[in-house]
Amino acid sequence: MIASFWPLLRPALHALEPETAHLATLAALERLPRGAARPDDPRLAVRAFGLDFPNPVGLAAGFDKDARAPDALLALGFGFVEIGSVTPRPQPGNPRPRLFRLTQDRAIVNRMGFNNEGAEAARRRLAARAGRTGLVGVNIGANKDSTDRAADYVAGVKTFAPYAAFFTVNISSPNTPGLRDLQGRVALDDVVARVIAARDEAAAASGRRPVLLKIAPDLDLAGLDDVVAVARARRLDGLIVSNTTLARPPSLRDAAAKEAGGLSGAPLFRRSTWMLAEAFGRMEGAMPLIGVGGIASGADALAKLRAGATLVELYSALVFEGPGLIRAIKAELLATLSRDGGRLTSLIGRDAAAVAAAGPGD
Ligand code: FNR
Repeated sequence: MIASFWPLLRPALHALEPETAHLATLAALERLPRGAARPDDPRLAVRAFGLDFPNPVGLAAGFDKDARAPDALLALGFGFVEIGSVTPRPQPGNPRPRLFRLTQDRAIVNRMGFNNEGAEAARRRLAARAGRTGLVGVNIGANKDSTDRAADYVAGVKTFAPYAAFFTVNISSPNTPGLRDLQGRVALDDVVARVIAARDEAAAASGRRPVLLKIAPDLDLAGLDDVVAVARARRLDGLIVSNTTLARPPSLRDAAAKEAGGLSGAPLFRRSTWMLAEAFGRMEGAMPLIGVGGIASGADALAKLRAGATLVELYSALVFEGPGLIRAIKAELLATLSRDGGRLTSLIGRDAAAVAAAGPGD
């Protein structure tokens, strides 16, 4: 329904400063009367990490950091929604402006810096929706001034275990100094071991929650080897590839490309899809992958599945295409299944070797 107003809404929202537009969008979603999404075609259903997803298209973290509107977002047609990143204590993030639209490039640069109201505020909102259908994962982060960042992830698991469909351990935001160092083998193994132990401890009371790890697209292949080795050794449930990039492909035309922060949207597609394919090859089926980065069409979502994703997520393209994109992607997935027969799962990783061989493209 809201999707049909997009031709009117887009110019109004894009006339606003980007963060103001974002906050207005969230506030509107928060106030919408609660509706249910149209049921999805059963051919779109995906089972992964022990969860049943009605369709494979999820909302990536960062859109709804404080769990303000997960049900309204699910009602737009997403198969799942990832809220966060949430840190144990509230923090303001970086000074504004910190969010930039690169309209010509169909991209976003952000240096939000994990602005969020803290775990307790998000916990209260998720507790209030407990028992409703719809898969809401919690993306957990660490406070900027934390002296023991691994402990912050453990705290996140403890706080949200009763409410999270799954956890994402975000050690790949470029906007918290030093956070990405947690992707190194020794530090990562420590964080993951402690998070898994906390998850297992909470399992008796709250149920076993899948734990996924979200990685940066800027890792080199030796770094990816380390991440995959830790993920497999510690039996993580899945990997999310990828977060935003610090790289600036030479193709960028918009002046805001010079802003510091993580780049997302169309220019991230090639690199993140390449890294997904590289991760798929290394996993040898050990765990499912979620493909994120630059998805703006059904063809893009299909390319992620073919590169190795079991599920996909998006954020930036919503800013340019509006909420109708979600239904359009699902329709294109179904059209492909009707044309080629078979099931979504039969597409997973079909092109991984070729995508890996083609390289990151920049
Ligand atoms: C993000 N992203 C993000 N990721 C994360 O794990 N925690 C977070 O808090 C945020 N915050 C955030 C804010 C903004 C404004 C953007 C644009 C992005 C990254 C996001 O989840 C996703 O990985 C990338 O944006 C790539 O996907 P798209 O946007 O190209 O579809």
